[in-house]
Amino acid sequence: MSQNEAKRLAAEKAIEYVEDGMVVGVGTGSTVAFFIDALARIKHRIAGTVSSSEQSTERLRGHGIEVLELNDTGDLALYVDGADECDPNKRLIKGGGAALTREKIIAEASDRFVCLIDPSKQVPVLGRFPLPIEVIPMARSLVARRIVALTGGQPVWRDGVVTDNGNLVIDVHNLSITDPVALERELSQVPGVVSVGLFARRPADVVIVGGEPPRVL
Ligand code: 5RP
Repeated sequence: MSQNEAKRLAAEKAIEYVEDGMVVGVGTGSTVAFFIDALARIKHRIAGTVSSSEQSTERLRGHGIEVLELNDTGDLALYVDGADECDPNKRLIKGGGAALTREKIIAEASDRFVCLIDPSKQVPVLGRFPLPIEVIPMARSLVARRIVALTGGQPVWRDGVVTDNGNLVIDVHNLSITDPVALERELSQVPGVVSVGLFARRPADVVIVGGEPPRVL
């Protein structure tokens, strides 16, 4: 089965978690694009969505699905998003699509975080996928130096990418993240870091691994 087909099957399964009248938090990426397309079929049943990126907002509105402000909705019952890596404790690396900050905000606001992955994203230890970190532009070099000192990893500026928040992304290579909660806390404290693409303090609640049939963890 192709990676895309696995993503689509995970996204279809996630529709089972959507209940009537819900405001659904919506992540970003190619897996979520399948979820948005599936959500369009039941859009009359939901109260609306909160979007984690301009990209997802455009796709949602293209389907005629209402996009609301998190400031107006309060906490959400459900957040559905993809991930770049997932460990056995449902802790994640996210931010391959540079939407990590808004994704983290919505995850924090949500009672249930359902994460959709294809099987290639399951890892025993996080870090094979370079860890994205969103940084304030003037702090780019400072944060890179602190990353080297704190982690020993290799920071690479994602040149040409500006986030929806007007910031930059640094990807940290060569990590083996044995304590993701501690690393998330440490890196988040460096001045200039907006957010770290580790979702360990607030991991996923449910992980759906795409396949025939999808596996729910
Ligand atoms: C975007 C993300 C995505 O969820 C992650 O990159 C996975 O993307 P895809 O579904 O395209 O494989 O964190 O910031």
